[in-house]
Amino acid sequence: MIDTLQAVLSFLVPAAVVGGAASVTTTATTLDNLQTAFDGESNANARYLVFAKKADEEGYGEAASLFRAAAKAEEIHAANHAVVIRQMGGAPVAHIGITIAKSTRENLKVAIEGESYERDIMYPEFIEVAKREKAAAALRSFTFALKVEAVHAVLYQDALDNLEKRRRKQHTYYVCPDCGNTLAELTILKCLVCGHPKSGFIAVS
Ligand SMILES: [Fe+2]
Ligand SMILES: [Fe+2]
Repeated sequence: MIDTLQAVLSFLVPAAVVGGAASVTTTATTLDNLQTAFDGESNANARYLVFAKKADEEGYGEAASLFRAAAKAEEIHAANHAVVIRQMGGAPVAHIGITIAKSTRENLKVAIEGESYERDIMYPEFIEVAKREKAAAALRSFTFALKVEAVHAVLYQDALDNLEKRRRKQHTYYVCPDCGNTLAELTILKCLVCGHPKSGFIAVS
């Protein structure tokens, strides 16, 4: 299933990009949206590291590995957004909230909800505004993040569906250093989101 997901990634483009529908009513600019995304990705990074610790404590080794890999990906998304914020004359700012970890099963549901929101609502809106403003660098950064959040949602759902089966077993995931694409197996030659060669992928377990 995960291989199939990677195979279709290069064709995964949000409806807002394809259709160009004027569904966004917010007055937020691309710079505003970059700040929101930087804050969101920074908080997701912090949240997933807390969830990883909880999964380790509960003996869910593979889920812990996945949370750490996704945390690395969110760190990359935040860094990508920060570069564009600075290019546009801003300064990236994140306010990191306190994460109270529940059970790993509940934490996976929280993660799926967050990734689905970013995939289906947040990034499609930001992409539409970036297209309207012809903000190419922001469009690229948002699109990378959207595609990878879609991957994360599937990986988290898979982890939730198989939580008991994969108890106590850590797993090595591979994270693209440019876009954060997250793979359960390194079976590709280059990243299907951004084209980075597989030799540069970061192993996280
Ligand atoms: Fe992200
Ligand atoms: Fe990539």
